[in-house]
Amino acid sequence: MEIPHGDIIGSSPNFEYKGAHQAFLDRWKETDDTMGRHSMSFHLHHTVGSDFFASYLYLLEKIPLVKFFSVTCEYIKGEKQFYYRAQQYYDNVPATEEGMMGDFLEVSNVDLEASCQFLKRFVGPGKAGTHCALDCGSGIGRVTKGVLLPIFKKMEMVDMKEHFLLHAHEVYLGDDADRIETYYCYNLQEFTPPKNKYDVIWMQWVACHLTDKDLMNFLVRCKKSLCLNGTIIIKDNMARQGCTLDHIDSSISRHLDIMKNIIYKAGLEILAVERQKDFPEVIMPVWMIAMK
Ligand SMILES: C[S@@+](CC[C@H](N)C(=O)[O-])C[C@H]1O[C@@H](n2cnc3c(N)ncnc32)[C@H](O)[C@@H]1O
Repeated sequence: MEIPHGDIIGSSPNFEYKGAHQAFLDRWKETDDTMGRHSMSFHLHHTVGSDFFASYLYLLEKIPLVKFFSVTCEYIKGEKQFYYRAQQYYDNVPATEEGMMGDFLEVSNVDLEASCQFLKRFVGPGKAGTHCALDCGSGIGRVTKGVLLPIFKKMEMVDMKEHFLLHAHEVYLGDDADRIETYYCYNLQEFTPPKNKYDVIWMQWVACHLTDKDLMNFLVRCKKSLCLNGTIIIKDNMARQGCTLDHIDSSISRHLDIMKNIIYKAGLEILAVERQKDFPEVIMPVWMIAMK
C-alpha cells in the first residue's frame, strides 16, 4: 500500500465545495435542458457519479472527467480499471509486514497497539462477544495476529490475493493458524460473508480500495453477517479535504465526512470515531470508525 503524502485541493473545510457542487448542478441542468440526456459528458458524469456517489464531485475538481471515467468505468479483462490496477499492484507486493505497510513499517506496532485499545471499547459483557471475527483485506494477517487473535477464539480472513493468505497459513501465523476457520480468497466487492456469524468485522486499509457504491453494498452485507451486538470497524487513511485517488495502488482516500456519509447510507449507526495518534505528520490522517 502507498500511504499518500499530499492531500487535495483547497484549504478550508467541506462547505468550500458547496459552490463547486452548485456550479456542477447548474451546468448539468443546462446540458439536460438543451441536449436532453444524450450528451456524452452527461452520460460520463452520471456513470461515474453512480460508482462514486459520495466522492465524485471532489475528485472531479482535480481529475478530468474523461480520465476519471477510464479509471473507474473502463474494463480490462472484464474488470473495472480501478480494481484491475489494484490487482496488478498487489501481485508485486511481497507477503511481508513491509509489504502490508508500504513504506511505513516503523508505525506498525503503534498502529496495532491503538487498534487493540480501540477494539476493547466494543467487546465484553453487553457488547460484542469474543467467539469469531472476520479480518477483511487481511493480507498476511498482520491485524489478525496483532489485534484479533489475542481476543477472539476463532478467526476468518478474506483477501483477494492468494499468496498473502497462503503465507499467513503456512508461515506468518505459526501455530495460531489452527484457529483460522476459513480463508476466503475473494474480492470484497464480490464477497458475501456468512449471515449472523461474526462478533467483529475489521476492515483495515481496504475500504480505500472499493468504490463508494461497492463499499456501501459491502457494508450492507457485513451488517447482515454480524451476530448480536456485533460491530464493524473500519481503519483507513482519510484525506484532510475532499478525496484523493492514488493511481499507483488504485485506492481512494476520503475525508472522514465522506466516509461517514457512505456508512449512513449503508444503514449503519456510528458508535465511535478516533484518530490514530503518534503517526508521523507526513502520513495522511488515519481514523478508526466503529459502527453497528
Ligand atoms: C495495505 S494492505 C493491508 C493489509 C492488512 N489489512 C493490514 O493492515 O496489514 C491491503 C490489502 O487489501 C487487499 N485488497 C485490496 N483490494 C481488495 C479487494 N478489492 N478485495 C479484497 N482484498 C483487497 C490487498 O490484497 C492487501 O492484502
